[in-house]
Amino acid sequence: MKILITGGCGFIGSHLVDTLIKRETNVEIVDDLSTGKIENISLHLKNKKLNLWIDSVLNKSLIDELVAKNDFIFHFASAVGVKKILDNPLLSIESNIEGAKNIFTSASKYKKPVLFASTSEIYGKNENVPFKEDADIVLGPTFKKRWGYACSKAMDEFLAFAFKEERGLNVIITRLFNTVGPRQSESYGMVLPRFVLQSLSDKDITVFKDGTQSRCFIHVYDVVDAFLEILDSPDKAYGEIFNIGTTEETTILNLAHMIKRLTNSMSKIIFINPESIYNTGFQDMEKRVPDITKINKLLNFTPKYSLEDIIKDVIKYFKSGR
Ligand SMILES: NC(=O)c1ccc[n+]([C@@H]2O[C@H](COP(=O)([O-])OP(=O)(O)OC[C@H]3O[C@@H](n4cnc5c(N)ncnc54)[C@H](O)[C@@H]3O)[C@@H](O)[C@H]2O)c1
Repeated sequence: MKILITGGCGFIGSHLVDTLIKRETNVEIVDDLSTGKIENISLHLKNKKLNLWIDSVLNKSLIDELVAKNDFIFHFASAVGVKKILDNPLLSIESNIEGAKNIFTSASKYKKPVLFASTSEIYGKNENVPFKEDADIVLGPTFKKRWGYACSKAMDEFLAFAFKEERGLNVIITRLFNTVGPRQSESYGMVLPRFVLQSLSDKDITVFKDGTQSRCFIHVYDVVDAFLEILDSPDKAYGEIFNIGTTEETTILNLAHMIKRLTNSMSKIIFINPESIYNTGFQDMEKRVPDITKINKLLNFTPKYSLEDIIKDVIKYFKSGR
């Protein structure tokens, strides 16, 4: 089997690459290295099973050629994270929408299945947790730039369903909740690697607002397991949306305390206003909890790693010098 992974040099993509190469699968990556790193896949660079294209999913003819010769496509390439969208709104929105359109167009043409990585951001300000896949999308105003990420992913989902209906695309939509683990960069506003690095260097741990907002963090290894379940039985999943996350909820303040304890850090936990970093355009959600009944029932998927396991793995990763 030959698999195309867009964004394969990124955090999540590179872990999937590791597992597929271990399974002796042929893997082709297209990544423009905007947030991804070659080091993430450096173990496999000499492996004949891996083919890397440093290019953009906006390159239509390359995408068409690659989709034609692969059997399954994981579409992860995207401007990721709120900070990236706030810093580069136009390029980010354009590449999220155009990139998905290029993938879906070629995948429909050659009848190739696509797994698309969407996001829990889609649920926006909806307060009715846990979120089921058919929950309403409640977004903020369009002049608040942070909603551009959720909106562009929502547009991609609309596109996916339109391609399914009108061109027979076999598409699977996965909505990932806060995915964390080794190789996640602290540079784009991701809270867990930021706290770990602050703790390891005894700097202040900067908690937004009063830290009572909560999240559910899933290990990237669990996410990769879910992808493999889907890859191994795609027929059950075509045309479906799946939440992928854990239901273990933690406040951001508790996360800061856990990380401080697990790193034996002298850091102080301080509270800051996110607007002081992001200027305008930032709005936060109080809670984001997935309902994972659907993926659990259909694909027998349950996350295995606890938050403490994840934090320990991230600490080990940063201590190893990456
Ligand atoms: N990490 C999370 O918590 C999370 C949560 C929800 C959804 N997701 C989704 O999962 C996917 C992977 O995210 P990640 O956390 O690994 O982020 P990441 O930034 O590490 O990975 C994204 C990869 O896509 C590449 N890329 C970006 N634009 C590209 C383009 N135009 N052409 C080719 N490559 C391009 C980047 O260089 C990077 O390697 C994304 O689609 C993201 O929206 C992630």
